[in-house]
Amino acid sequence: MSEKKINVALVGLGFGAEFIPIYQAHPNANMYAICQRSEEHLNKIGNTFNIEKRYTSYDELLADPDVDAVHINTPIPDHAPQSIKALKAGKHVACTVPMATTVEECEQIVNTVKETGLKYMMMETVVYSREFLFIKEMYDKGELGKIQYMQASHPQDMEGWPEYWERMIPMHYATHVVSPVLGMVNGRAEYVSCFGSGTVNDDIAEKSGNKFAVETCHIKIKDSDIAAHIWRFLFDTARQYRESVDVYGTKKSFEWPLIEGENPVLHTAKKPEPEIPERVEVPDYAHLLPPEIQKFTRAIHDADHLSFLQGAGHGGSHPHLVNAFLKSLVIDSEPWPNAPLSANWTSVGILAHESAVAGGELKKLPEFTLE
Ligand SMILES: NC(=O)c1ccc[n+]([C@@H]2O[C@H](COP(=O)([O-])OP(=O)(O)OC[C@H]3O[C@@H](n4cnc5c(N)ncnc54)[C@H](O)[C@@H]3O)[C@@H](O)[C@H]2O)c1
Repeated sequence: MSEKKINVALVGLGFGAEFIPIYQAHPNANMYAICQRSEEHLNKIGNTFNIEKRYTSYDELLADPDVDAVHINTPIPDHAPQSIKALKAGKHVACTVPMATTVEECEQIVNTVKETGLKYMMMETVVYSREFLFIKEMYDKGELGKIQYMQASHPQDMEGWPEYWERMIPMHYATHVVSPVLGMVNGRAEYVSCFGSGTVNDDIAEKSGNKFAVETCHIKIKDSDIAAHIWRFLFDTARQYRESVDVYGTKKSFEWPLIEGENPVLHTAKKPEPEIPERVEVPDYAHLLPPEIQKFTRAIHDADHLSFLQGAGHGGSHPHLVNAFLKSLVIDSEPWPNAPLSANWTSVGILAHESAVAGGELKKLPEFTLE
């Protein structure tokens, strides 16, 4: 890449603070400013990482002409309004998942990106995790054969997390399961059908406006014969956290471990029955990164943050995300996922919930997510 340096501002410093040392080490970034609401934590992070430019006001940050790009890690309801504001202020946007919580907001972001010519990337950890990169590499080399089916699960008991999670609908945070099944085959969702199952307690049902404990959705992939299945829960169901994806091919299939920390299983067709399954060690993909940030696939700054206690370090994805975003800015290419693709991944979850409320009715993804 060139010597060009992008002035990056990080907004939201819980999970977001993890990205600071990566930007500081990346040859194409200047970790220019940080922003979060409370001054005390802002100064703590600013002092820890030696960052001078500090903002408690997002609007003041956006008024700073030296900011080239913002990386947003604020609570979910802020993602869409803050992304749109930043684009309108002339800043490129990287935003943590999900893109938005309504299809209308997704469309506004896609349109604002078109109008401004700026970049938008949703920072989806799963599609830059070593597990995803491993399966995708096998698939791209033809080792899996033809993919016949995929399934992905994201059970996570969010009791004890920040309060805004109690107001969330499980499928509104579904990108960790939608993105790997669509990303594996570079496909777009065409339509979905989802069922709700079980019930959450009255308090959560009232705060979230959703009564279902589990939401379970089928996705028809456009221009493909593959249907994928995903499921999600946030409260009142017993299970260890897991962000899994299983991929079934004609030659080989990959199955995620049932328990965190175990190795996944690779099944090979046409072998004697006991030899079909084999536990495999997933390799790291740091070699795809500039040397300065390779160490961050294995390093976590705040290992006690709930996102990592439940989150398995996000598969070493953080430096890959930073690199993909900066690369798109430096060489002026479309980031992956760009705005329409992020909108497709995010809208699957939003429409899945609408489908569940309507008893499983088929919901089509809007045209602007298929571009
Ligand atoms: N694997 C993943 O992709 C992953 C993992 C963890 C968190 N996340 C996402 O990151 C986001 C933050 O999660 P978290 O656990 O760090 O939450 P958190 O509540 O711990 O932190 C939120 C941060 O945003 C700041 N903030 C809130 N409103 C703001 C505003 N208006 N302007 C500026 N700053 C503001 C807060 O001060 C705080 O620093 C969530 O949207 C979550 O979905 C993604």
